[in-house]
Amino acid sequence: MPHKPVRKAIFPVAGLGTRFLPATKAIPKEMLPIVDSPLIQYAVDEAREAGIEQMIFVTGRCKSAIEDHFDIAFELEHTMLARGRDTSVLASSRLTPGNCVYVRQQEPLGLGHAIWCARDIIGDEPFAIFLPDEFMHGSPGCMKQMVDAYQNIGGNVISVLEVPRHAVSSYGVIAPGESRGAITEVLGLVEKPKVEDAPSNLIVSGRYILQPEVMHILEGQEKGAGGEIQLTDAMAQMLGKQPFHAVTFDGNRYDCGSKVGYIEANLAVALQRADMAEEVRAIAVNLLK
Ligand code: UTP
Repeated sequence: MPHKPVRKAIFPVAGLGTRFLPATKAIPKEMLPIVDSPLIQYAVDEAREAGIEQMIFVTGRCKSAIEDHFDIAFELEHTMLARGRDTSVLASSRLTPGNCVYVRQQEPLGLGHAIWCARDIIGDEPFAIFLPDEFMHGSPGCMKQMVDAYQNIGGNVISVLEVPRHAVSSYGVIAPGESRGAITEVLGLVEKPKVEDAPSNLIVSGRYILQPEVMHILEGQEKGAGGEIQLTDAMAQMLGKQPFHAVTFDGNRYDCGSKVGYIEANLAVALQRADMAEEVRAIAVNLLK
């Protein structure tokens, strides 16, 4: 029997973004640009490419710029057209009415809590999650690679990548089982382990396909690492009850929740852009002298 398609995606964007203050005092972290598109735009484009139809944003106070970004900018478009300017650059930032939903997470109680806030919109369907500050750059995109795997294996699918052992304590880490190509069975999951306790150096990297049962687990979830309601802890309770696999993304990942990762992402994308690569390369070489 074919697995139920993944039609809905949650974008949790209600975090405080404290690592980017003061830049993120009035602007959501997800609106920080990589060259000329905000992080959230890349995540939505990745979702569309994977066949996802409904975008659910879990927002908080001071996040209205995200709603405006995906709306029609009437004055801007009207003025540009009147001046004979091309507005096609705005096309991908317009979401079809009815295909985007905004839910408020009133307090930033953690990623698990943010996901739970979308439970009624998810209903009993499998769904995807995108953490927009994990910038996944590649073609096909990370979620497309995961959906392709999901169509064969079903169940729960998360993206993972290898990091140096000393870096594991900032992330969710998997205990890997057998691997077939890019697909690895997940036997255990732990959030922010100490280096010596980590079951591997494979970290969960911001993309998930989960079965709706995780919402019931989140309902009664206690606070975990950092005093937050952790998605990883809820996923760990599904192990052994449902198929659970990890896909190693064939592409590049940049941790844009950190300043250095954000700068790296901007440079990497700029160096691949036909309209600026040469100039940016010359500037970088000059700066490195
Ligand atoms: P982060 O751990 O990056 O937290 O959240 P943050 O608050 O955004 O940033 P810092 O650490 O203070 O700089 C990972 C993702 O989960 C969302 C964030 O918006 C981000 O996309 N999140 C986190 C929520 O939506 N709600 C929360 O309560 C926590």
